[in-house]
Amino acid sequence: MRSMISIKKLTKTYAGGFEALKDVSLEIDQGEIFALLGPNGAGKTTLINVVCGIVNASSGEVLIDGSDIVSDYRLTRSKIGLVPQELPSESFETVWNTCCFSRGLFGRPADSKHLERVLKSLSLWDKKDTVSMQLSGGMKRRVLIAKALAHEPEILFLDEPTAGVDVELRQDMWNVVTSLRDQGVTVILTTHYIEEAEQLADRIGVIDHGEIILVEEKAKLMRDMGKKQLVLHLQEPLVDIPSQLSSYDLGLSKDQRDLTYTYDTKRQSTGITALLSDLRTAGIYFNDLQTSQSSLEDIFVDLVNEGR
Ligand SMILES: Nc1ncnc2c1ncn2[C@@H]1O[C@H](COP(=O)(O)OP(=O)(O)O)[C@@H](O)[C@H]1O
Ligand SMILES: [Mg+2]
Repeated sequence: MRSMISIKKLTKTYAGGFEALKDVSLEIDQGEIFALLGPNGAGKTTLINVVCGIVNASSGEVLIDGSDIVSDYRLTRSKIGLVPQELPSESFETVWNTCCFSRGLFGRPADSKHLERVLKSLSLWDKKDTVSMQLSGGMKRRVLIAKALAHEPEILFLDEPTAGVDVELRQDMWNVVTSLRDQGVTVILTTHYIEEAEQLADRIGVIDHGEIILVEEKAKLMRDMGKKQLVLHLQEPLVDIPSQLSSYDLGLSKDQRDLTYTYDTKRQSTGITALLSDLRTAGIYFNDLQTSQSSLEDIFVDLVNEGR
């Protein structure tokens, strides 16, 4: 695996003395889709802005494909496409010109075929001669993505790309990200839509209060931290959980109608068969049951709360 982004002991203290990044180290391989999750104010945008050279780090080092972002700024920046969190101020340029100009900024020769492909993949082709400021918010966001891809970057940062956008744009963006990965582009996205990370990411990093508190393969994270629950809807309300059932991890809802059993999917036996038999012995009957698996969202909320 080739390291595409190497972040070592990065810190950022803003002018007022606020420590937005504390000793962040992170390696991202070529071709990965990496999702950075964290609550508001965790430091996601600061981290991206440092890597993209918009904000200066207070200490530490960032290498892009082996080159230093400070001493080799032009080279490293040309390998990066950035879709910023905020929509930029209004532009009087057409969509086409905006993208052409951005490509030129990074020293790339004009390539109308490439721009055509990018605009079509984002359903922007019929808007290519429209002035950006006349577009809706969702369309402006599409333009931001097209602009970021205009110079064929090897790395794409998407900073909360789908905050407040419509379903179609979300779907288009997910398709674009998947096809970029197929072309070997490294994608880093920040989001607090966990569903997005669950859909797209190969690995997930969680940042909170300027610290990376976890980095893990998505599949492993969900396997290791996921729990399953069985909910039994009782025929009669139950006042107390009888003592002969105390060995099970059971919860009773406020209305005393739902009994919840939480079990570990990694264990060989779930204990469900024994539980159902013990319930019958205790004279507790149910008329419905369902199981649910904890989502990445549950896992994430648990993780961030642990740190508080
Ligand atoms: N220019 C700045 N000056 C001072 N503090 C800042 C500045 N930009 C961001 N911050 C603070 O740094 C923290 C992290 O912000 P940010 O990186 O935008 O978080 P996120 O993108 O995860 O929401 C926040 O508490 C924010 O208020
Ligand atoms: Mg942000």
